[in-house]
Amino acid sequence: MKATILSLGLALLLIRQGAALIKCIQGDGSDLTAKDCASEEAALCYQPKFTEYTGLAAGDYGCGTCTAAGKTKDTDCTECTGNDGNACNTPVAAGADFMCHNYTINEDSTAFTKTATATCKRLAATVVKCNMPGSVFDNTFTVANSGCGPCDSAAKAANKCAECDSAECNTMPSPIKCIQGDGSDMTAKNCLPAQGEAAPTKCSQAKFLEYTGLAAGQNYACGACAANSGATCQDCDGNTDAACNTKIETAESFKCYDYEVKEEKLIKKETSVTCQRLKDTAIKCNMPGTAADTTYSVANSGCGPCDSATKAANKCAECDSAECNTMPSPIKCIQGDGSDMTAKDCLPAQGEAAPTKCSQAKFLEYTGLAAGQNYACGACAANSGATCQDCDGKSDAACNTKIETAESFKCYDYEVKEEKLVKKETSVTCQRLKDTAIKCNMPGTAADKTYSVKNNGCGPCVEADKTSKKCADCDKGECNSAFAVTAFVLPLLAAFYSLL
Ligand SMILES: *[C@@H]1O[C@H](CO)[C@@H](O)[C@H](O)[C@H]1NC(C)=O
Repeated sequence: MKATILSLGLALLLIRQGAALIKCIQGDGSDLTAKDCASEEAALCYQPKFTEYTGLAAGDYGCGTCTAAGKTKDTDCTECTGNDGNACNTPVAAGADFMCHNYTINEDSTAFTKTATATCKRLAATVVKCNMPGSVFDNTFTVANSGCGPCDSAAKAANKCAECDSAECNTMPSPIKCIQGDGSDMTAKNCLPAQGEAAPTKCSQAKFLEYTGLAAGQNYACGACAANSGATCQDCDGNTDAACNTKIETAESFKCYDYEVKEEKLIKKETSVTCQRLKDTAIKCNMPGTAADTTYSVANSGCGPCDSATKAANKCAECDSAECNTMPSPIKCIQGDGSDMTAKDCLPAQGEAAPTKCSQAKFLEYTGLAAGQNYACGACAANSGATCQDCDGKSDAACNTKIETAESFKCYDYEVKEEKLVKKETSVTCQRLKDTAIKCNMPGTAADKTYSVKNNGCGPCVEADKTSKKCADCDKGECNSAFAVTAFVLPLLAAFYSLL
């Protein structure tokens, strides 16, 4: 029994001695030759752990376990199974070092700032990669491995981390600059993303509404205009060196008149309104056109041009200087049969231009007013010149006033009777204008039965008839009763006297 135990123990010893001592690299790594381990107990070699992007942990190479060497396995130390040929704990093959930028959150947790540049270690087969804070801002984010290597996959998926493929490639895009606030400070400031949000790419500001001015309730700001704020907000593509939401350049404001309906008429308001305009916008005011009725309302309170359709329809008229949009006041005319002689405004008929003339019955000297023509707004109808006269209307008084006449008078008419021109029995009434002298005409000494008395005897001779003595005239009522005496005897008497 004893012999059996002894021989078994001997056999075990012989086996162990037959396995021989293992070899490991030993020491700080400056000597990489494989050396026999001192103890036959040692079956493992250990070495400092290489961590990707961080590099080699501190520590020595040696025989045995990490624990026995005072290290933590797989944290700063790795083990391998030794053999008596060559050392298993050979240094890992490293690639060339590269550099990446490191980032840290600033003191008030509003932005990441670049700190030092870190040296990145890698294995021979590992590609160059750097990482940095991504487009979505998270103030609790820390760059992986001081900026060396790839992103953590969850942070990358959430766009909180971004990565790139060359040394020092991880420079974060600079924030855009925008003017921010109510405009009291017009300096461009960096636009930092809000927590959990992407960095702004646009700047916004109050919209300038031509002729009205800046929309209210909209500050200068980072970021695009809010949805459905297009009427009051405008935005622009941000850039990193200057704000794009700069002050909108305007030219001096000007004034125009607004209009309102009063007593069924479009009337200019008493005080003018102030119109705002952009730098290159011309001064323009608009007003109701000649065809505007009371349903028309002026554009932009009178500021700026007409809408093209209403302009074409003459419902809107425009002009080019401040306060120029005073609608011409309507002209006044006497209107009707003359029973009411007050001057009244002439309003344009629907769809028509405002009248510029007044009309009335024509006064025919010695005959009187033409029949069938009232006092009216507007010019005489075409081809009515024999019975109608018109005048240029004015806004303060009617021009078609009552035609002033002097008292009528009477003259005799003549007719041919028994081959002779003879005076008619009863005289006719002659009408005359205020400054027209009384005059009657009758056949002259040279008149024969073919001559016909002018205007029924009212008024003077036609000049040619007078010269040829076919007509004679006189200047009292019913004076044309004895042409032989006045036209023939008087010159005869004169000649007679001259002989005395
Ligand atoms: C990188 O930045 C982080 C955060 O500030 C810091 O803790 C770390 O030490 C830095 N790394 C290097 C290599 O400087």
